[in-house]
Formats: sequence, structure tokens, C-alpha cells
Amino acid sequence: MLLSTRDLTSGYGRVPVLRGVDLDVAEGEIVALLGVNGAGKTTTLRTVSGVLPTWSGTVTFDGVTLGARTPEARARLGLGHVPEGRGILSSLTVRQNLRLGATARGRGARDVAQDEERLLDVFGALRDKLAAPAGSLSGGQQQMLAVARALLGRPRLVMVDEMSFGLAPILVTQLLGLVARLREESGTAFLLVEQNSAVLDIADRAYVLAGGAVHTSGPARELAGSENLVRAYLG
Ligand SMILES: Nc1ncnc2c1ncn2[C@@H]1O[C@H](COP(=O)(O)OP(=O)(O)OP(=O)(O)O)[C@@H](O)[C@H]1O
Ligand SMILES: [Mg+2]
Repeated sequence: MLLSTRDLTSGYGRVPVLRGVDLDVAEGEIVALLGVNGAGKTTTLRTVSGVLPTWSGTVTFDGVTLGARTPEARARLGLGHVPEGRGILSSLTVRQNLRLGATARGRGARDVAQDEERLLDVFGALRDKLAAPAGSLSGGQQQMLAVARALLGRPRLVMVDEMSFGLAPILVTQLLGLVARLREESGTAFLLVEQNSAVLDIADRAYVLAGGAVHTSGPARELAGSENLVRAYLG
């Protein structure tokens, strides 16, 4: 497995949120993480990326037990995180934001311009906006920028928190299509937190979190076929 969490617990202050999360993402896999508001989806991503400390249990990435490693150290191992609210620096230009993504590779990263070109082929809407302040982009374009920036770090796995939030359905379909294409072309794995059922069209497997633990998991196609589940957890 590329990423595994076992009996993972964490929370805020002394308040527990995750109560033993077991989750796997294989090399090149697209996995959806679903659940109602407050289920612990964002907390799971934050704990895996090291923004929040692990209380107990383990996070293993590419064979390395992450323990107390910093978010920067995790990024250098190839773990990308697009946080809730995107984390775009709105006063910097689109190109400057993109280049920041390459810092995850450490100093002297090579082929950054080439990688940027490849990503701009996929995220065409960003090409005309490279010199514009990122804050002037539309919501969908900002999501593209956030994902492209994470990918410029050449991660093995990118975790994206609610990529489809606030976007029109047609844009959601388009962005998910781009993610599927990126996985095909680069073999990058994705862990996608979503409340939008369209994610099940591109995901291989899905997990439903409830009350800080895994409630259900299985092939995305099977979960998509369960009407009750889709009605309870997805828009
Ligand atoms: N910064 C924080 N401080 C204290 N408690 C928090 C904080 N962030 C989240 N929580 C609590 O942790 C629990 C899980 O929140 P989390 O953000 O992980 O849920 P989520 O599944 O991402 O929900 P949503 O779909 O609304 O984004 C909730 O009960 C929430 O109130
Ligand atoms: Mg959340």
C-alpha cells in the first residue's frame, strides 16, 4: 500500500475526533472519502498530512511510518495536500503560486518548467492567467490552481479536500475528468474528500466516515449502487 492508516486517533485540544481510522490507498488508486458534515473527513486529511498530531495508531506512507514527521517532511516524501479552502495565496500571481508547489521537491528541483507546461496542457484555463493575481481567478480556476500546484511537487499521492465545493455541476464533472486523466498519465494516487456523488464515477474505492471511524468501505461502483448510502452521504 502507498498510504495506510491503522487505528488512527486524533483531535483538537483534548477533544477526540478520529476514533480509530483504518484506511488504505494503493499506488495510482483514486479513493473517495465520504461522510456527513463533522464526520471527520478534514481531520483525517490533516492528521495524515501532519498538520494535526497523531494521538495513537499509525500512518504509513510508502513503507515509512510517519510518526511525528512535520508536514514539510511528509510533502518531501511525496504526500500532497490541498486543504479545505484551497490555500491559494491570492496576492501572488498564478505562476508564483504554481512555482511554490515545486518547493515540496526540495532545493534544485529539475524539470519544473517542463512539468508546469504539462500541467497547463491539462488545466488549459490557467494558461491565459499565469500573470494574473490568483485572487482574480474564478472558484473553479482556483481549484485547478490548487490541484496543479500540489502536482508540481510530483507527489505520489494528492489528498484534496472538497475540490467540488461551490462549483457548478458541469465544472465538477470537468475537474473530476482532469483528475482521472492525471492519474492515467502520471500514476499519481488521489484521496478525494467529497460530498458530491460524481466522485464515485472516477473513484476505484470509497470509504464512508461516521463519528470519526470508517462506517462502510468498498468498490466505488458498489457504493454508487446503494441508493440509501448515496442519499445519506452525497448530494
Ligand atoms: N479547529 C477545530 N477545533 C475544534 N474542533 C474542531 C476543529 N475543526 C473541526 N473540529 C471538530 O471536529 C469534528 C470533525 O470535523 P471535520 O472538519 O473533520 O469534519 P468534516 O467531515 O470535514 O466535515 P465537513 O463536511 O463539514 O467539512 C467536528 O465535530 C468539528 O466540530
Ligand atoms: Mg471538511
